[in-house]
Amino acid sequence: VIAIDGPSGAGKSTAARGLARELGFGYVDTGALYRSVAWLATRGGVDWSDGPALAALAGSRRFEFDPEGRLRIDGEPVDDRIRTPEISRGASVVARHPEVRRALLAIQRELGRQGGVVLEGRDIGTVVFPDAEVKFFLVASVRERARRRYAELRARGDEISFEQVEREQVERDRADRERAVSPLVQADDAEEIDCDGLDAGEVIELMKSRVAARFPLTWDTKNTK
Ligand code: C5P
Repeated sequence: VIAIDGPSGAGKSTAARGLARELGFGYVDTGALYRSVAWLATRGGVDWSDGPALAALAGSRRFEFDPEGRLRIDGEPVDDRIRTPEISRGASVVARHPEVRRALLAIQRELGRQGGVVLEGRDIGTVVFPDAEVKFFLVASVRERARRRYAELRARGDEISFEQVEREQVERDRADRERAVSPLVQADDAEEIDCDGLDAGEVIELMKSRVAARFPLTWDTKNTK
């Protein structure tokens, strides 16, 4: 199990997906699960403040990630419907409820159970898989993270200003770091990677070299005849 945590916009998703592809591992974007709970709630008329009802909603659906790391709920792809600024806000609100975290914890552990998987989120190395073999904590400056997120949203056609993206990012980070259950913290044994000034390819190479150092590919010459 490879755990990748860090604040939003640090470049976790691109790096995690790329690393998984290079290693032939599965990829689990756990933020997509929290986003989906907020999205399902909005569609089903469940309030983001109602922890038990949100948990029941999460528990009644089947979540799976296809080989490309795209989330399906009950077999249906959710696509970009969970990527709007409103659902970003909703995800960080629903993520505060212990009932929701408990429901999604079981799902995340099940998705990573067999190993050979990269999981990306906020509490993977601390709570979901505290015994993960390899842990990374990706960081970047607020400006750089807002810049990435802004480019992403504009590319999708969202008419949002840079200032608004930056403001919402700071607010979401604060909520993630200060919440009572499973706050965003770096695991003691996680390696921090500062992604400022690095492109996704460089971050992936760095992570790959760490994985290789931890699990060297060895060949015992005595067994070759
Ligand atoms: O990673 P992403 O920005 O898609 O996550 C959306 C929100 O879901 C985060 O702001 C955070 O509040 C929540 N989350 C979480 N724990 C995780 C993954 C995401 O609380 N493991």
